[in-house]
Amino acid sequence: MFKISLITADNDSFQYVKDIRTAVFVGEQGIDSNLEFDRFDKVAAPALFALLEDEGAAAATARLVLTEKGYKLGRVAVLKAFRGMGYGDAVVRTLLEKALSLGAEEVFVDAQNHAVPFYEKIGFKIVGGEITDRGLNHIQMSIRKGDVKTNCHCS
Ligand code: COA
Repeated sequence: MFKISLITADNDSFQYVKDIRTAVFVGEQGIDSNLEFDRFDKVAAPALFALLEDEGAAAATARLVLTEKGYKLGRVAVLKAFRGMGYGDAVVRTLLEKALSLGAEEVFVDAQNHAVPFYEKIGFKIVGGEITDRGLNHIQMSIRKGDVKTNCHCS
C-alpha cells in the first residue's frame, strides 16, 4: 500500500524528498549536491513536491515548477529498492494531473536519455534537442493535455 502527498519545501516531510534525491542523484548518479538542490527547492519557491511512501517508508519523489515556458516536471527519483513497482509512473502522473488542474495545456520535462521510454509510456513526446543539466545529457520532452495515456499505477 502506498500513499502520495503533495508538499511544499516548508513541510517537515521535505527532508524525505531531499534524502531520496541525495541517494539517487548525488549518490548513484554522481551529481554535485550544490547543483542538485536549486532555487526551486527553497522555502520561498512556488514548487510542489510529490512524496510517495510505501508502508510509511519514503520511496519516490518528483517536483513540479512553473517556469517562463510553463509547468515543468523534474527531479523524478525512485529509490533503487522500490523501482519497477509503478512508483515513478505514479509520482509523475500525480504532478501531471495537478498541473492540468491548474490550467496547464502542456507540461514539460527534461528527460535523461535512459528515461525517455519511461516518459513516452505516459504520453510525453520529444520536442527539442539534447541539453546538459547538472552535467548530464537530457532530452526535452512535453505532453499535451489530451495526450496522457492510461496505464495508471495510481491507487
Ligand atoms: N526504460 C524503459 N521503460 C521503463 C524504464 C526505462 N528506463 N523505467 C521504467 N520503465 C517502464 C516500466 O517498465 C513501466 O512500464 P509498464 O507500465 O508497461 O509496466 C513504466 O515505465 C513505469 O515504470 P515504473 O515502475 O513506474 O518506473 P520506476 O518506479 O522504476 O521509475 C525511474 C523509473 C526512471 C524514475 C527510476 O528508474 C529512477 O529513479 N531512476 C534514477 C533517477 C532518474 O534517472 N530519474 C529520471 C530523471 S529524468
